[in-house]
Amino acid sequence: MCGIIGYIGNREAKPILLRGLESVLYRGYDSAGLSIRDEKNKTTHYYRSPGKLENLKKKLDPLSIGGTVGIAHTRWATHGIPSEENAHPHRDCHGKIHVVHNGVIENHAELKKQLIAEGHRFFGQTDTEIIPHLLEEEKKQNPTMNTRECLRRILSKMEGAFAIVVMDADGPDSLFLARKESPLLFSYNNEQNEFLISSDPGTFYLYPDIAQKVVAMPPETLVALGGGKIEITDFESKPQSPISVPMNETEEFAQKQGFPHFMAKEIFEQPKALRDTLSGRMISDIAGVKLGGLEQQKESILSKEKIFLIGCGTSFHASLVGKFLFEEFADMEAHAEIASLFRYRKLPLHPKRDLALFISQSGETADTLGCVTELKNKNILCLGLINRVGSTIARECGVGIYQRIGPEIGVASTKAFTAQIANLALLTLFFGQSKNMSLSDRTLFINTLNSLPDIIEKTINILDPQIKKLAEDYSKFTNFLFLGRKYNYPTAMEGALKLKEISYIHAEAYESGEMKHGPLAMITDQFPTFFLCPNDSVYAKNISNMQEIKARSGPVVAIATVGDTQVDTIADQVLYLPPIYEPLSPILYSIPLQLFAYYMAVLKGYNPDLPRNLAKSVTVQ
Ligand code: M6R
Repeated sequence: MCGIIGYIGNREAKPILLRGLESVLYRGYDSAGLSIRDEKNKTTHYYRSPGKLENLKKKLDPLSIGGTVGIAHTRWATHGIPSEENAHPHRDCHGKIHVVHNGVIENHAELKKQLIAEGHRFFGQTDTEIIPHLLEEEKKQNPTMNTRECLRRILSKMEGAFAIVVMDADGPDSLFLARKESPLLFSYNNEQNEFLISSDPGTFYLYPDIAQKVVAMPPETLVALGGGKIEITDFESKPQSPISVPMNETEEFAQKQGFPHFMAKEIFEQPKALRDTLSGRMISDIAGVKLGGLEQQKESILSKEKIFLIGCGTSFHASLVGKFLFEEFADMEAHAEIASLFRYRKLPLHPKRDLALFISQSGETADTLGCVTELKNKNILCLGLINRVGSTIARECGVGIYQRIGPEIGVASTKAFTAQIANLALLTLFFGQSKNMSLSDRTLFINTLNSLPDIIEKTINILDPQIKKLAEDYSKFTNFLFLGRKYNYPTAMEGALKLKEISYIHAEAYESGEMKHGPLAMITDQFPTFFLCPNDSVYAKNISNMQEIKARSGPVVAIATVGDTQVDTIADQVLYLPPIYEPLSPILYSIPLQLFAYYMAVLKGYNPDLPRNLAKSVTVQ
């Protein structure tokens, strides 16, 4: 979690750092800070503020801060409350060494004890604060060694995951970067007189002039930037090659384009996102697909019999839909797995038989990445279904498909979810076409995928005012149940997650058949249920379950198929959607739930883009 920005060049660092922080804000936003070295006046400016980035900006706006080298950070608290003392950068005892850090130093308590015994003073509770002091101590013990060498020596003392940027008044025109697990990238222009550092590839779109080349640091490397030079070594000082990152997204995506929030923009741009993700991948003549990212290893991929679909949060919900698709159409044993749990299970895995598919919008989620490392070590073929081009999981998997939907900025995942399901449908076709998926099923998949963007475009505009009104009608309730069966059970889970994470309303999802095994006890006239009830193979069962809720006075909002005459006689409110092929219905049925959560958050006065306690990219385990 947390976002890191750094800059070295000949321009004023302050505005570049602040703008850069905005691009990594979704990684954490409970405090922010920056340090800028003003070599002309031989001083380092240092500012931190708890709360939103706005607080730091308010502090800095009236100040004219000289200096062309700086580091900045936006925090998502792991150790210690979000306060000024715990905000980054952190400094050594003399205020010469400034450090920003992402990740967790697991043995920080032990190291801090030693440092205190050696006379170092600490002001906060974060694990990060030990780093400048460790470096200060190392420099004190080895006065002839330069900052870079001393930094190298302390890295081996720190256990855990980290991405660090160090600014030292003793090496004023350089920044030192170190990375173990947590991602860190930098860019430069051809003259190499300017460097931009970020924990997120998205930052580089803001400054194409400093991002002529973008480089991701390989794991366990140390970089010294400055004086027109780039030195990359591993922790043993062996030179390492940089990993180039392609930049193929445009800044246009990172704007709200007239919408009040990124979340609204991302909900409404789903037709475009689906068109982009599907474009050029389906071959109607053979009712099949061609997925460029899998071509090289096609034979090996197709030889597998069992697939593990692994992700977290929304990406896990998509993987559940994927599991049902693979089982029903690709003739494969499929398991949907929560990454943070999967890592610690002892499963019999067979490299010849098994395949893993990692689903992640950001491509940086630590739990998912941990599973990639684990499974690669066990020689399991790992594929990625990732949105962020050049992200760590995409690079680690090496094989896979990109979502190609542009950055998703709102913390609540929306367009990524629907595009993940569309891609899982493409992957089902990929396997199905070489196994025994029938021509008629393949044709239905292709036709439905092709028609979905237009269907959503029409539906979303009809639904929008209805759902806004629905949110007003239901805003007094503090608990919600979300029910769905078979393909729409994951949709219900996703609907409940959306409502929880941005409107802070308690919401639970159940497979509708499970409701009578316990949750039904909660139902009263104060506990409404969202019921996903398309006219599909499980319709009759859903109708019975809906009646069971109504028999207990529970308010029901049903989402049903246009033309349905039965649901209306049971539910209190019905939102109608066009008929849709059942296996792909979660793509359409998740959209009203996204809109409902969005309007609930807005009605309650919350910013849906930056929900409390969360961050877009979860890079801690
Ligand atoms: O970037 P990823 O897809 O790996 O992220 C996984 C989850 O952290 C993410 O989907 C999270 O649950 C969203 N905030 C849900 O809206």
